Parts: sequence; structure tokens; C-alpha cells
Amino acid sequence: MKFSGKTALVTGAGSGIGRATALAFAAQGAMVGALDINEPSVKSLQKEIEQAGGRCFAFGGDIAVPANVTNFVDGCVAQFGRVDFLFNNAGVEFISALADTDEADWDKVVDTNYKGTFLVSKACIPHLRTAGGGVIINNASDAGLRGIKMNAAYSSSKAAIIHLTRSVALDYGKYNIRCNCICPGCIRTPLCERFNAEVGARKGMSGEEVLKEFVDANIPMGRVGMPEEVASVVTFLCSEEGRYVSGAIIPIDGGLTAGM
Ligand SMILES: NC(=O)c1ccc[n+]([C@@H]2O[C@H](COP(=O)([O-])OP(=O)(O)OC[C@H]3O[C@@H](n4cnc5c(N)ncnc54)[C@H](O)[C@@H]3O)[C@@H](O)[C@H]2O)c1
Repeated sequence: MKFSGKTALVTGAGSGIGRATALAFAAQGAMVGALDINEPSVKSLQKEIEQAGGRCFAFGGDIAVPANVTNFVDGCVAQFGRVDFLFNNAGVEFISALADTDEADWDKVVDTNYKGTFLVSKACIPHLRTAGGGVIINNASDAGLRGIKMNAAYSSSKAAIIHLTRSVALDYGKYNIRCNCICPGCIRTPLCERFNAEVGARKGMSGEEVLKEFVDANIPMGRVGMPEEVASVVTFLCSEEGRYVSGAIIPIDGGLTAGM
């Protein structure tokens, strides 16, 4: 298996894209460090991985809290001895124009999406260097590639992740650390369902109606993506096949951001 003997850390691993990616890493032989603010969700992931014969360290905590991040990364190293891959995936969505965004909501979005990515990367980089190199994949969004109405905090936090990716690729390439960013479009996960339900409630439509309208009008491939279709790109980028890709910003969106 291509990731035998390797350790992959995944944040937001309890649900959606993070869960699918943690399972994909485990299926290819990696030991998985799984963090989520929702502890039961990562405990159930751990059970699923272990029942399939894999190894998983599950940790319940908030990536915006430095002590949680340190305990998570230290726990992974104590258990598995190394860190090879980090998927910075945990994130929260928030629908609001700037003047209607409370400071607390702004902080939650920016601290989770942007500061959390900084904190976990910072904690992992020394271990990636010790391992002789590794790969960091940051999960931004199509919302980081262009503005989205009613999305000031979220889309700007995701744009920041794109530039952070480039900074890490520039500074750590010499240590054989690659850093890339994925920009999913519309992926069928609980986050996507909550988003559509909220937009639908404002328009007097169901979440599924909103989603269908959006897909028909905006996605050239005419469908939403599945979490596994994001996971396969993340594992490719971490694999030997992706060994010369660094600093890349990769849409995974069925053509959504190709143009108008
Ligand atoms: N689903 C989409 O359409 C889509 C599109 C673009 C980008 N994304 C990004 O993909 C990532 C994963 O989203 P998803 O759709 O799988 O959502 P999801 O809600 O299904 O999963 C996100 C997970 O992150 C966890 N989490 C949230 N805040 C956390 C925190 N502070 N610390 C630790 N864990 C935390 C949640 O508990 C949850 O398990 C997010 O960064 C999101 O912005 C999703």
C-alpha cells in the first residue's frame, strides 16, 4: 500500500471531506491522526478505521486553541513516531454581509479557517522536517478564488489560506516539504446541506431546490461533487505521483470557477 509506514494528520476528520480523506489515507496504509471539535465523530472514525485493520489516533479539540493543537500533534507523534502528511481541512461556513457580521462570528470563522491552519501547520513543520520532508494540503474553497455575496468572513478567510499555502511552499520547499491548496466547489456534505438550507430559508425554498438551481446555473458538469472526489485529489497530492507539485491552487469543482 502506498502510504504504509506513513502518518497522515487530518483536521475536521469527523465529517464530510475530512472523514472521507482520513478513510482514504487509512485504506492506503497510512496511520491517521484525526482531530475534530466534535469528539464522538472522530471516535467513530477511529472505530471504523480500526475495524478495517488500520490505526487511528482520535482527538477531540478546537484547532483555534493552541494547547489543543499541541496536544493533538504530540499525541500523534507519541503514538506513530512521525508526521508525513497534514490535511488542514477543518472549517466553518458563515452567511452574512460584512456590516451584519458580529465580531464574535468573524473571529470564529477566521480563527477556525485561517488561524487554525496556521497553528496546526506550525506544530507539524518540525516533525515533517524530522521525517525528511512531507506534504501539507490546505482546504480553501471556490470562495477563496473569487468573491461570493453574503460571505465576507468565509471567503476572505479562504483567500488568506491560498496565500498562506504559497508562503509555506516558498519557505519550506528546501526541506522537501510541499504545500498545496485545494479549492472544492459544491461538495455534498453536512456543511453544504446547512448552507443550502439557510439560503433556502431566506428565499422560501428548500435546500435541495436551492442546490438544484445553483448546480443547473453554475456547474458545467451539472452535478455536485462527493467527498471521495476531494479525498482522491488530496491523496494524489501526498503520493509519489504528485512529488513535483508545490504551491499549487487546485479547484475541485466540476468547472464551477472556470469562467462565466
Ligand atoms: N462542502 C463544500 O461544498 C465545501 C466547499 C468548499 C470548501 N469546503 C471546505 O471543506 C472543509 C470541510 O468541510 P465539509 O464540507 O466537509 O464540512 P463538514 O461540516 O461536514 O465537516 C467539517 C468538520 O470540521 C469540524 N470543525 C469545525 N470547526 C472546528 C474546529 N474549530 N476545530 C476542529 N474541528 C472543527 C466539524 O466538527 C466537522 O466535523 C471546510 O474547510 C470547508 O470550508 C467545503
